[in-house]
Amino acid sequence: MADFTLGILGSGQLGRMTIQAAADYGISCHVFAPDANNAPAGEICNTLTEAEYSDQNALNNFYAIVDAVTCEFENVPISALGIAPDHILKSPGVKALATAQNRLIEKETAKLLGIPTAPYWKISSVSDLSDAFNTLTLNTSNENAILKTAKFGYDGKGQIRTKSDDSPEQLWQELNTDLAILESFVNFKKEISFLIARNMNGQTEIFPPTLNHHENGILVHSSAPAILPQSVIDAGCHYVEIMAHHLDVVGLLAMELFLTEDNTLIFNEIAPRPHNSYHWTIEGCKTSQFHHLVRSVSGLPFGEVKTSRKWHMKNILGQSVSELQSGYSNTNSYVHDYGKAGPKIDRKMGHITYFE
Ligand SMILES: Nc1ncnc2c1ncn2[C@@H]1O[C@H](COP(=O)(O)OP(=O)(O)OP(=O)(O)O)[C@@H](O)[C@H]1O
Ligand SMILES: [Mg+2]
Repeated sequence: MADFTLGILGSGQLGRMTIQAAADYGISCHVFAPDANNAPAGEICNTLTEAEYSDQNALNNFYAIVDAVTCEFENVPISALGIAPDHILKSPGVKALATAQNRLIEKETAKLLGIPTAPYWKISSVSDLSDAFNTLTLNTSNENAILKTAKFGYDGKGQIRTKSDDSPEQLWQELNTDLAILESFVNFKKEISFLIARNMNGQTEIFPPTLNHHENGILVHSSAPAILPQSVIDAGCHYVEIMAHHLDVVGLLAMELFLTEDNTLIFNEIAPRPHNSYHWTIEGCKTSQFHHLVRSVSGLPFGEVKTSRKWHMKNILGQSVSELQSGYSNTNSYVHDYGKAGPKIDRKMGHITYFE
């Protein structure tokens, strides 16, 4: 599809892997980001615009040359996607982006659709937090909770684990925001993600579920397909599908869920974009999550998402960046280096996929 140009808002590793997939189909990519140069996507794209997301002129010029646009991270300002002219296909869509950007709206949407959530409270002041702690103590057997900023959290940032006897004043000061959510702590036995691809005609394809392991709020290891009772798989697939239709997603939608001891799935959050826990699909599926994203926005038919092996994906963070190098000597490993210059602590530098 040499005549098709995909616009990408954002310049991180998810954009980079989308560009790599688009190249397989002869599709060129134009990256738009304030930090596009020397960033993972910016350094391998066909063309780029380095400008602020608020720069309307730059956005208009960008929209004059692309056929579709996708957001490679969910904190792209809504207006940057919203001002795209009607003839440009917008992925994941304004409604999906706005919902994923606010943990309160996200949880309310899940509730509306009948997807179970942990008890949660909207917090916009110290007194809201005190009230929530009181209810938490009275109504639940579990007094542990997590206080999260409603917006702009990622990789566990903007979160504090709390107990109901913590000082609300101190917590509120530490979180330093004007809108937050207090979530009851879920004593889960597993963390699972589901991923759906949905195209402009509403057709869908659901990937096998993935089992995730986080440390300090950051995903460190994923394995797939997750071995789960069929009823759990069916419920997860149903939840991600109804959410994708409700939000009218075009592209990808990931849903993170907790699995409790009694095999109930509890909603955590959504991400309307490629998801870190599905990087294994690059080698593990004939048509990866990135290929599906590109197909869904360019009108190409969906591919195959079944897998016949057990796959693992290990994130390589700044503090263990040397593992990328050692990955090359393991003949069972697929090394992905995002080409980032500075190996900072907890920064995702790459990932390694391997199979059993
Ligand atoms: N209510 C909860 N109960 C128990 N654990 C939780 C809860 N909320 C979050 N966690 C833990 O913290 C991790 C990160 O939380 P969350 O997914 O909300 O944050 P995030 O910053 O959006 O992370 P990411 O962008 O990496 O998905 C979860 O994957 C889970 O391990
Ligand atoms: Mg998460």
